[in-house]
Amino acid sequence: MPFLIFAVLFYILAVTFCGYAIASYFIYKGWNNPPYIPSFGKTKKAVIAEVSKFLTSEKQMKIADLGCGDGSLLAGLAPKFPNHYFYGYEWDPFPYQIAKRRLKKYKNTRIIRADLMKTDLKHLDVALCYLAHIPGLGDRLKKALKPSAVVISEVFEIDGWKPQKIVQSRLFGFKSKIFIYRVRDQKFLHH
Ligand SMILES: C[S@@+](CC[C@H](N)C(=O)[O-])C[C@H]1O[C@@H](n2cnc3c(N)ncnc32)[C@H](O)[C@@H]1O
Repeated sequence: MPFLIFAVLFYILAVTFCGYAIASYFIYKGWNNPPYIPSFGKTKKAVIAEVSKFLTSEKQMKIADLGCGDGSLLAGLAPKFPNHYFYGYEWDPFPYQIAKRRLKKYKNTRIIRADLMKTDLKHLDVALCYLAHIPGLGDRLKKALKPSAVVISEVFEIDGWKPQKIVQSRLFGFKSKIFIYRVRDQKFLHH
């Protein structure tokens, strides 16, 4: 009997997730706009460790997860660094609602429902992305962020950008990478 309950629950979850993935493909115009897949495991730990290296000063820094999903990364960072301020930008209502509820208890966070390709990002010191290859992402970040800002990209390289550092990690047992960039080192690909 417990196995049957488990199988039914698993089936419902799988059908819900596939339905959600198909719906987001149509709503968000294909896989160029990455769907909601939370950071987890060793890669998530490695990203948090890399962000932590930039949060050593007393001065409050502003960090954002661009496409924050359910707030998985921010929930690992906000309680660890109460002196710094964390933003999550997410356009999909489903993960946005989860992130908002999940992070409500941390006063140093703000979750915003917005398109990261259009919203103001000039205040940020560190921007996190786990965003696949959104067309024009590099030029958008170069224009929207201040030159001193750091961009940490999980798994995916930002097309045309020159990393300051590449960290090796693992995802599902496979090799994966984290790319660390300084905005001022990058050039516009298109004018
Ligand atoms: C692969 S998930 C990463 C989630 C989260 N950063 C994490 O590490 O757990 C990518 C997220 O970015 C969001 N996203 C993609 N394009 C976006 C856009 N233009 N504006 C806001 N959110 C976007 C998706 O809805 C999805 O939740």
